[in-house]
Amino acid sequence: MTHCREEHLMIPESDLEGMSVDTFAVRAGQIRTGQLEHSDPIFPTSSFVYGSAAQAAARFGGDEPGNIYSRFTNPTVQAFEGRIAAMEGGERAVATASGMAAILSTCMALLKSGDHVVCSRGVFGTTNVLFQKYMAKFGVTTSFVSLTRMDEWQAAVRPETRMLFIETPSNPLGEVADVRALAALAKAAGALFVVDNCFCTPVLQRPLELGADIVVHSATKYLDGQGRCVGGVVVGPEKLLEEIYGFLRSAGPTMSPFNAWVFLKGLETLPIRMRAHCENALELAAWLQQQPEIEEVYYAGLSEHPHHELAKSQQKGFGGVLSFCVKGGREQAWAFIDATRMISITANLGDVKTTITHPATTTHGRLSPEDKAQAGITENLIRVSVGIEAVDDLKKDLARGIEALK
Ligand SMILES: Cc1ncc(COP(=O)(O)O)c(C=O)c1O
Repeated sequence: MTHCREEHLMIPESDLEGMSVDTFAVRAGQIRTGQLEHSDPIFPTSSFVYGSAAQAAARFGGDEPGNIYSRFTNPTVQAFEGRIAAMEGGERAVATASGMAAILSTCMALLKSGDHVVCSRGVFGTTNVLFQKYMAKFGVTTSFVSLTRMDEWQAAVRPETRMLFIETPSNPLGEVADVRALAALAKAAGALFVVDNCFCTPVLQRPLELGADIVVHSATKYLDGQGRCVGGVVVGPEKLLEEIYGFLRSAGPTMSPFNAWVFLKGLETLPIRMRAHCENALELAAWLQQQPEIEEVYYAGLSEHPHHELAKSQQKGFGGVLSFCVKGGREQAWAFIDATRMISITANLGDVKTTITHPATTTHGRLSPEDKAQAGITENLIRVSVGIEAVDDLKKDLARGIEALK
């Protein structure tokens, strides 16, 4: 007798239980319509209709589940949320208009005036501005500490500390935080531990399993992977996520259905893309190390990197971002970048196309000279977000940069 799937509109969560992130990336969260399409459908509608005035009232009153208005309920966005929640191992996810909106919504929903945050110094520049300039206006103060110095984290925690925030590995030097140790510190302090998992993605690192309370993402980077859309997402336990959802519903920085659909398509290939990024980055890092014109290479995949063992203990791979110092200063770094022909000169990262940038004058250009020095952003530093082109062709293009230094 042939088996007929009674529930063919979506795969019930229980049927995927215990499966791997690679499978979740392709299968989790899909919502199928009565047309029985194989690929994810897109619902580009701002609002939804009801069968009666009573049903509208029941939906608005929360007595009946269902869609109301796409600022806070849209099936394509929900499919993306379901898929990334499964991949991160979280109870729930909420999608946002950008990575910054994910961080902002987390802070607005879970912090209040008088609260204190401890944040790692090397976070994305705009995250730093959000805490220092904007959260401060609402009475939330932030202390910045070294990502890797546990003594600094311990010293910075105060009775009013409500959140520890990190990005690991750090950008652009690839320093790695001890996620388990920071989770224990946050727990002891009664603070929430938030990890920006943008660089690793759930394919390489699952911070919730390591003790984090919340994971945030800029979906703009690897989750899309092809440089098409801006978006973000927050993942974590239902209780906290309900608060964040409530803020998003009221404040509005939510994800559009079109972007959610693009991210769903991006997630399907995320595991194989991440493996290709990691392989290429490791080979390029080892190759760059052998070039006499290169002073130092920063990539945790190299066995001599000080955080190699720690990275191995909490990540499944070392990611696609590496950086290196050329011999000389800004002039030599710019000459190297300008000599490349194929690699894109852009500050974005996480794309299948390899990108190259000079952090001191772009991504970290707004930092004071002291902050730059503390973060290790020197004038001769170059960051490469390694894509998935043939690695020998990437070497050919980077060799043009090396030639320019001779
Ligand atoms: C680690 C990290 N977090 C957050 C963001 C902000 O994301 P978005 O540009 O999607 O707002 C970025 C952007 O570059 C980032 O690199």
